Amino acid sequence: MVEACSGDWIGLAVVVGPGGIGSAVAAELARSCPDLTVLTAGRHGAPDCSLRLDIENDRDLDGLAASLRDQAMPLRLVFNCTGRLHGPALQPEKRLQQVNRSQLQQQFGINAIAPILLAKAIEPLLDRDQPFHFASLSARVGSIGDNRSGGWYGYRAAKAAQNQLLRSLSIEWARRWPMATVSLLHPGTTDTALSRPFQSFVAPEKLFSPERAARQLVKVLLEQTPAQSGAFLAWDGQSIDW
Ligand SMILES: NC(=O)c1ccc[n+]([C@@H]2O[C@H](COP(=O)([O-])OP(=O)(O)OC[C@H]3O[C@@H](n4cnc5c(N)ncnc54)[C@H](OP(=O)(O)O)[C@@H]3O)[C@@H](O)[C@H]2O)c1
Repeated sequence: MVEACSGDWIGLAVVVGPGGIGSAVAAELARSCPDLTVLTAGRHGAPDCSLRLDIENDRDLDGLAASLRDQAMPLRLVFNCTGRLHGPALQPEKRLQQVNRSQLQQQFGINAIAPILLAKAIEPLLDRDQPFHFASLSARVGSIGDNRSGGWYGYRAAKAAQNQLLRSLSIEWARRWPMATVSLLHPGTTDTALSRPFQSFVAPEKLFSPERAARQLVKVLLEQTPAQSGAFLAWDGQSIDW
C-alpha cells in the first residue's frame, strides 16, 4: 500500500482518461496524497469526470490551460491514462494483410500524437521553481527490443512513437523546466475493457485488478524525480528496454 505522499505533492492533479485504470488511479491518488486536488478529464464530461476533454480534438486541447487556470492552484501532476487497442473500427492486426491506413492513423492519433499534444497544452502552466510530473501510460508491447511475438502492428508502433515523443519532451523540459519529471509507465495486464478480448492468453495471477494496477503505478510515480525523467518503467519500477 502507498503511504501518504511527501509534502511536495500538493496542488492540482489531473487524470486524463477515466477508464478502468484511470478511474482507479484517480481514486488511489486522492487516497494516498490528501494534499492533491484530483480532477478527472474525459470525453464525456460530467458526471463521469470533472472536466470534458477529448485529447484527439485540438479545440479541446487549446482550452485546457484556461480551464485548469480557473482552478486557481498550481498544477502538480498530469497523468495521461487514455489509450485504445480496439474499437468499432479498430482491431489489432495479426498479420500484414490486416494492416491499413485508417487503423494506423487511429492508433497513432490516440496512443502517440494525443499524449504529446496534451503535454504541449499544459506547458503554459509550468513554473521553473515548482515540481511537476507528467506521466503517461505506455505498454510493454511498445518496446522494440522486447518484441518477440510480432502482431499488433499499429498499437505497438504507436506506443513506441509515444515513448520517443515523451523521451524527447523529457530532454527539452530538463533544460526549460528543471523541476519537471516525465514518466512512461506500463501498468501490467489489467482487467479493463481494453484488455478484455485478449485475456484468455493471460494467466489469472498475472491479470491485475484496476485497483492493484493503480496502487502499483502510483507507488512508482511517487518515486520519480527530475533525475529519472524520461524513463520507461513497468508497474514494479523495473526499467523496460526501448
Ligand atoms: N489494460 C491493460 O492490460 C493495459 C496494458 C498495457 C497498457 N495499457 C494502457 O493503459 C492505458 C489505459 O488503459 P485501460 O486498460 O484503462 O483502458 P480503458 O478502460 O479502455 O480506458 C481508456 C480510457 O481512454 C479514454 N479515451 C480514449 N480516447 C480518448 C480521447 N480522445 N480523449 C479522452 N479520453 C479518451 C477512454 O474514454 P472513452 O470512454 O471516451 O473512450 C477511456 O476512459 C492505455 O494507454 C493502455 O494502452 C493497458
